[in-house]
Amino acid sequence: MEKRKRSLGVLILAAGKGTRMRSETPKVLHKMLEEPILYYPLRAAADAGFSDVAVVVGSGGGYVSSWVGEEFPESSIIWQHEQKGTAHAAKLAQQWWSAFDDVMILPGDAPLITASTLSAFAASHQQGSIACSFLSFMTDDPAGYGRVVRSGEKICVVEHRDATDEQLMIKEVNSGMYIFDTKALAAVIDRISSGNAQGEYYLPDALSLAADDGGSVNAVLADSPDEFLGVNDQLQLAKAAGVMRRRIVEGFMINNGLQCMDPDSVWIGPKVRIGRGAVIHPSVQLWGSCVVEDGAFIGSFTVLRNSTVHACANLKGSVRMNDSVVGERASAGPFAFMREHAELMENAHVGRFVEIKKSSVGKDSKVPHLSYIGDAQIGEGTNIGAGTITCNYDGEKKNPTKIGRGCLIGSDTMFVAPVEVGDCVSTAAGSVITENIPDGALAIARARQINKNEWSRQQRQKNKTDKA
Ligand code: UD1
Ligand code: CA
Repeated sequence: MEKRKRSLGVLILAAGKGTRMRSETPKVLHKMLEEPILYYPLRAAADAGFSDVAVVVGSGGGYVSSWVGEEFPESSIIWQHEQKGTAHAAKLAQQWWSAFDDVMILPGDAPLITASTLSAFAASHQQGSIACSFLSFMTDDPAGYGRVVRSGEKICVVEHRDATDEQLMIKEVNSGMYIFDTKALAAVIDRISSGNAQGEYYLPDALSLAADDGGSVNAVLADSPDEFLGVNDQLQLAKAAGVMRRRIVEGFMINNGLQCMDPDSVWIGPKVRIGRGAVIHPSVQLWGSCVVEDGAFIGSFTVLRNSTVHACANLKGSVRMNDSVVGERASAGPFAFMREHAELMENAHVGRFVEIKKSSVGKDSKVPHLSYIGDAQIGEGTNIGAGTITCNYDGEKKNPTKIGRGCLIGSDTMFVAPVEVGDCVSTAAGSVITENIPDGALAIARARQINKNEWSRQQRQKNKTDKA
């Protein structure tokens, strides 16, 4: 008969103050590649297929729980109003984890852990009847970590501040990641004392207590120490971000054929998706839920947030895009700025020093130079002359401009919105358009030119004789 799979809940401890961050922001909400530190263990647990997850919150818990509610709405929240240590946090969640056969407990401040390590860890724990497994790793810089002290069969963890000089030399340390048989944990959790250097209830003490009860305690020595870097100060945050950055960029290069001539200068957030054969030049940042489709090109100094670049589009460099979309084979930049749901349709082009806000630029249309297009819809195959501006703001509200298909808009046209322009319209350069224009018309809205013959030459002559 096949063995019934044991149920497993994942408990993430995220109530600590994070004093060493020297910041008002709760530690686990500090951003790493523009997502909170806490995003990473939650994502690793989700990717490993663990669907029962709870987060213990405390310091700044209002902010932490509302972020969790938005990003991982299936997760439970457990409050630890006073932070009396990791075992105290686990104790407060007892009712929650008692529903499972096993509970995996992870620190909220170790963002580099991978889904594959968590899966393998769970599999190794669930193979035997083990009271507790924990992940340990070797490090040349064990300062701050609990040391794994092995004497014969017996294993325990001694915190840095409680360790003897001899124990401080030990390089095998506790990752802070455990899987407990919930019955074994329930049997020891109330016996953990706070009689230690920090006056806190230490979760690692559960290991030796479980062993005292005759349970088997298994230290799983991991071979990828990078995954356990705990973030306790701003330096460690930057270090962890660097490791994650490299992991993400190299992952896209190896798995998706991303071409990056300088992977060291490219920053890609953990939610970004990239198709096959895209090219990214040096010094590019892609944040939030950006999507870059097959064969797209992203030129240097481009910064994209929550934006989509469709297949074979070309961002020519120094492009900023927030919450915007570039269609297939469309192009933008250099020096283009698109924001608030700006959209370039297929094969459209916006060029140098152009800002597009909450507007769509139709298929095959062009806004090549020095324009501001806000709250506008531009139809297909329209050309917008250099310097054209939609005057969308009347001091109170933003007004729309609609421009049809196949139009030829003269340079420096001002559209005073709200205004509608039909299809196949031309405007004279320098026009200030305040009224709608019907299909097929030419609109001229500027003062008529007057030439005063010889006026200029005579004026200069007069100036010369006056000076003499
Ligand atoms: C902990 C371990 C240490 C291990 C290290 C790995 C203890 C006592 N020590 O030390 O053996 O080597 O992690 O990084 O567990 N937290 C709460 N409530 C509390 C206290 C902490 O939720 O009352 C949370 C923190 O927010 C943090 C995690 O638990 O996410 C770990 O706490 P932290 O104080 O950072 O423990 P370390 O000193 O790093
Ligand atoms: Ca820590």
